[in-house]
Amino acid sequence: MSAPREHFGSRIGFILAAAGSAVGIGNLVSFPVAATKSGGGAFLLVYALFVFLICLPVMMAELALGRKSDKDPVGAYRQLSGGSRLWRIPGWMALITPFMIAVFYMVVTVWVLGYLVEIFKGNLTGLTTEAYFGAFINSNAVFVYLIALMIIINGVLAMGVKDGIERAAKTLMPILFVMLLILVLFVLTRENAVLGLKYYLIPDFAKISPEVVSKAMAQAFFSLSLGMGIMITYGSYMKKRDSIPGSAKAVALTDTLVAFTAGLLILPSIFHFNPQIDPATLSDSSAGMIFLFLPKIFLSLQDSIGYIGASIVAATFFFLVLVAALTSLVSIIEVPVATLRDERGMSRKKAIYAIAAVQLVLAIACAMSFGMSGPLTELISIGGANKSFFDLVEILFYDTILPLNGFLVCIFVIYKWKKANLDRELQEGDSSFAGSLSQKYVNFALGTFIPAILLLVFINTVLLKFFNTSLLNLI
Ligand code: PHE
Repeated sequence: MSAPREHFGSRIGFILAAAGSAVGIGNLVSFPVAATKSGGGAFLLVYALFVFLICLPVMMAELALGRKSDKDPVGAYRQLSGGSRLWRIPGWMALITPFMIAVFYMVVTVWVLGYLVEIFKGNLTGLTTEAYFGAFINSNAVFVYLIALMIIINGVLAMGVKDGIERAAKTLMPILFVMLLILVLFVLTRENAVLGLKYYLIPDFAKISPEVVSKAMAQAFFSLSLGMGIMITYGSYMKKRDSIPGSAKAVALTDTLVAFTAGLLILPSIFHFNPQIDPATLSDSSAGMIFLFLPKIFLSLQDSIGYIGASIVAATFFFLVLVAALTSLVSIIEVPVATLRDERGMSRKKAIYAIAAVQLVLAIACAMSFGMSGPLTELISIGGANKSFFDLVEILFYDTILPLNGFLVCIFVIYKWKKANLDRELQEGDSSFAGSLSQKYVNFALGTFIPAILLLVFINTVLLKFFNTSLLNLI
């Protein structure tokens, strides 16, 4: 006999856990960087439209799949497709994708943890030298931090849905919100902060190109933790009496607000550091921003608040990113844990050990692909450039597969599981949804333009990443 399914204890617990999953490095760093480079307020607008018009219905669909089936993604697709062999494929993809994203995300989180420890040791100055990052990611300390991080994440997971995941989110998310606000208020009082605000908020519509639109779409999708099986799994822990549409809206709103607020932190800091800066020259990558640029910005605060003050601000920021990444990692590793439990009947502990063992090996391989191991560093040539194992995982699972998974969710829900079933599940716990405008929109959009857009983003990414061209070039 298997144990009864675990559930989140309360609606707010679910919302905080799902928001904990959604709020991650993507919000705190990738979003502000993307907004800076792509038209400020104009990007915000496009992004917000994507979140609420495209991504939110997909989130509702994923939650409904999970709650109806009471299963992990593999089980959900199997059960709701009536055992169809073809529809097993997206189930497996919704398992492998989070498994692999967790691996590369874990490596970046390890670096964040390492930087935080260095700041605590009083070494903020050291972090600002060019060579530091390369030396740090190739040092053995990375493996120690990796093991520490895995113990924390798996420790939370071992305590279960309510006492582990939900409790961690309920404790950490309010801390994250408060610290973010304090940092923003502090940064806004710095000299030249207003220049950053202007740059961030004043829309430059000339910068909105098809690439920017596609980037905003991919960013919104990733930021809401969609296409990774997470919302299917979390949906299976929701109570029937809770509203899926209402909870999904709260999660999307929280996620977007945090991303927006992070921009209020990053942009003014950049302009305080250098009022003459042309943000177009900033690195495109989040890693470049976090590990190369931000330490310099924080150090420059020492002129006004001293070295200790600057270190406190830096430590607060890195702690914030660490917390955001931890709650995301917890959610993403819960997906394979749920699958092993539901599909193989394993206990939670056994499933955690099995997954941690494989992930440790893969994460070590990722961490060694920055020079420590030659073959892993130059593993494969993609689109004419040599890519490492880390790059390969990122390109395949983060860049490419997510929109495809999203496309499959839409097609499955509307054409295989059927609209009426989706409707019924969305109305369960939310009687006001029946007949509402939202319902009509969700029904129509999920069967038509949302999957079409996701398919286009998928095809465009494949062309971009593997063939050095894009849809626009082909037309
Ligand atoms: N939403 C997360 C972010 O913005 C993405 C993510 C979720 C990554 C879960 C890993 C695990 O960073």
